[in-house]
Amino acid sequence: MYQLSVFIHIIAACVWVGGQLFMALVVVPALRGWTDPERGRAFSALGRQFRLVGYVALGALVLTGIYNAGQRGVAWSTLANARFYDSEFGQVLTTKVALVVLVFLLSLVHDLKLGPASVKLLNQSEPANEALLRAYRKRASMLARLTMMLSLAIVFLAVALVRGLPW
Ligand code: HEM
Repeated sequence: MYQLSVFIHIIAACVWVGGQLFMALVVVPALRGWTDPERGRAFSALGRQFRLVGYVALGALVLTGIYNAGQRGVAWSTLANARFYDSEFGQVLTTKVALVVLVFLLSLVHDLKLGPASVKLLNQSEPANEALLRAYRKRASMLARLTMMLSLAIVFLAVALVRGLPW
């Protein structure tokens, strides 16, 4: 059961981090030459589909992550023990979970606020909205990049969790 949980955890991590890398390295450059309304429709369809898949993957990561931590001796009572946070494993796991919470909140802002607002403006394409559209798109892409960088940091912490910090 433990190996299956780590297997599911790693596949979910591939989907979550891999999906973000695919959007940034493949989708965004590929849609660069498209017209605004076309790009708006494409981003909205891709964003909606990845949102669904991404949150299922994040849910799987949290559930298997809790199970994995349990298999490594971290019970709920351990979290109340100050000595746990003195240990390297405790510090790495706490930092990792804190980054997961931050990534989840940033994704919510991107997916529920900035993303839909940008797509709505893209579909209107009135000259009056040009500046606003550029501002929204800039914020949405900055947030997406920040979420991706933090997700990569989570994977680094995951490796450190299993093999120790490299310093
Ligand atoms: C975006 C979210 C997450 C990502 C991308 C992620 C990624 C990973 C990866 C790639 C590994 C395997 C590391 C290796 O074997 O070298 C791993 C292991 C682990 N993760 Fe996560 N994780 C996430 C969330 C969580 C959460 C929320 C928890 C705890 C509640 C957690 C707890 C663990 C534990 C305990 C292990 C060690 C598994 C083992 O015993 O080998 N992870 N994680």
